[in-house]
Amino acid sequence: MSDEASPPAATLICGDAIERMAGLADGSVDLIVADPPYNLGKNYGNNRDLRAWSDYEAFTRDWLGHAVRLLRPGGSIYMFMGVRFISRLFVMAEEDIGLTFQGWITWHYTQGMGRTRGFSPRHEDILFFSNGSDITFNLDDVRVPQKYYRKRNNMAGANPGDVWQFSHVHYCSAERVDHPTQKPEGLIERVVRASSDPGDLVLDPFVGSGTTARVATVLGRRAVGIDINPDYIAMAERRLAEPFDGFDSADPRVGRAPRDLPGGGNGQAELDI
Ligand SMILES: C[S@@+](CC[C@H](N)C(=O)[O-])C[C@H]1O[C@@H](n2cnc3c(N)ncnc32)[C@H](O)[C@@H]1O
Repeated sequence: MSDEASPPAATLICGDAIERMAGLADGSVDLIVADPPYNLGKNYGNNRDLRAWSDYEAFTRDWLGHAVRLLRPGGSIYMFMGVRFISRLFVMAEEDIGLTFQGWITWHYTQGMGRTRGFSPRHEDILFFSNGSDITFNLDDVRVPQKYYRKRNNMAGANPGDVWQFSHVHYCSAERVDHPTQKPEGLIERVVRASSDPGDLVLDPFVGSGTTARVATVLGRRAVGIDINPDYIAMAERRLAEPFDGFDSADPRVGRAPRDLPGGGNGQAELDI
């Protein structure tokens, strides 16, 4: 389906992710972006993110089971998770559920709370799995400029790799909304562009402030977002209604030009590609 086809649409649903996913059809989703609570005690208004780890594991197994049922063959799922649980999530997804492993992405968020005993945390991880191996992967839509000119390099750009630098949406920034774990739009943009096509259906079962739904619809995908907090659903609706004037974050490599081009200058005339 092209960008100009039926208008992009988002459906935002207030409710429990497990109950609401149960009402969606098998194989109906092309891409899932799941950013669940990490069980680290965050205050999400009407829900507090703190359970016994065994309960959290059961909760994860439940929502992941539904998510996988919804994913079409070849569909992809990206899961954000904190370091305390990510290795268990990996085993659950690969060994217990049988998803196909595609990548372990490290999100380097550059700044945050400092520690005086121990190293200050500066990353979170994203697990990328799929339902089978015949996946949609639009590498050309997510390339970043090469660092150097080399004949063997693809000068259309490099694969962005699996360490991604995007700063948090800063508290002072105009795009910041009143949600404790708002994710950067530029990061979600890379996921949506790489792993879905225009017209595809993107599901975020923990949509929070609406980042995934916003990015997906701006990029011409359809979106379903679920959150248990009605205030966040209202926040997401407001974000979706805003005019688009660019995403709130970008990979710093996007603006670079390859160094040491032949002949100096920008060398464009001499590129042999
Ligand atoms: C890590 S945040 C998601 C943030 C989101 N990616 C963003 O950019 O704003 C997790 C969200 O899950 C929601 N949540 C917690 N338990 C839930 C449940 N059982 N069903 C649906 N949503 C839930 C919380 O209200 C919170 O907004």
